[in-house]
Amino acid sequence: MRTFQQVSGLRVYLRGIRAEGKTIGFVPTMGALHDGHLSLMRRARNENDLVIASIFVNPTQFGAGEDFEKYPRDLNKDLQMTSLVGVDAIFSPSLEEVYPPTHRTFVEVEGIGETLEGKRRPGHFRGVATVVAKLLNMVQPDSAYFGQKDYQQFLVIERMARDLNLPMSIIMAPTMRESDGLAMSSRNAYLSPEQRKAATILHEVLLDAQRRVDEGETSAACLRSELEAKLAREPLAVPDYVAIGDPDTLDPLTTLEGRAAVVALAVCFGTTRLIDNAVIAPPGVTVPKMRVSKPQ
Ligand code: PAJ
Repeated sequence: MRTFQQVSGLRVYLRGIRAEGKTIGFVPTMGALHDGHLSLMRRARNENDLVIASIFVNPTQFGAGEDFEKYPRDLNKDLQMTSLVGVDAIFSPSLEEVYPPTHRTFVEVEGIGETLEGKRRPGHFRGVATVVAKLLNMVQPDSAYFGQKDYQQFLVIERMARDLNLPMSIIMAPTMRESDGLAMSSRNAYLSPEQRKAATILHEVLLDAQRRVDEGETSAACLRSELEAKLAREPLAVPDYVAIGDPDTLDPLTTLEGRAAVVALAVCFGTTRLIDNAVIAPPGVTVPKMRVSKPQ
């Protein structure tokens, strides 16, 4: 497995790969890798000749008082994990390589980047869209892979890529979960044993949402208050939001009659804030497992 810290070296390497007519799949990450990240790399492995992953803890997407400093970092362990799933190259640039002192350009995605996580974490998606635009320009892959775990992030990146006419497919792959249903996340490591146990409530709420829709519930308001009531019964869980929205725009829905919806949750356990989501639909409406956005 090759490793690169500088854009210049990466570009020379990738130019050679492209000249051989090979396709490139790219998985951007912030490291502290788990099976959710690896599932994206395996998918990229299946669909491309070459797989490159990036490991960069991006300061511009962390707000003041968030966990940038304490975000888990273990590059050696990450390199071992990526080599086991057949990643060909890792790009792990320094802070200065990505944001030299002269850096002044940021990417802002209006609308989809301004609700839910965008509202709670001002500047977060500006940082995400900026770093992902930069990484996509550095790597210039044929396809880039993102997890459904960060559903709104995917929509923001998809919008950014299409609006900036970036010539690659943007692909969403399913959320990987622990055996008790908790979505894998680097931030799960912050939870105490009691909080870790209580955190399974997120997935339980999402399963309840699909079950209630299967039983015929179509009112988004009723569904939402049932889900909030369930969360309220877990003393360690402090809900931030329960949103039921359009899967493409996240606009709030009033009814689920004949249509799919995304249920998005943000819940705090002590100082740790977890998010999760599921796309649910009434009987007879199919929900696509993968989402692929191709360039025009
Ligand atoms: P990070 O949190 O490291 O996640 C990297 C990728 O892995 C994202 O696309 C995320 O959605 C995906 N992922 C995380 N947990 C997952 C899970 N349980 N199942 C499936 N996929 C999962 O998201 C970021 O980094 C950053 O914002 C980044 C896009 C790299 C920009 O800095």
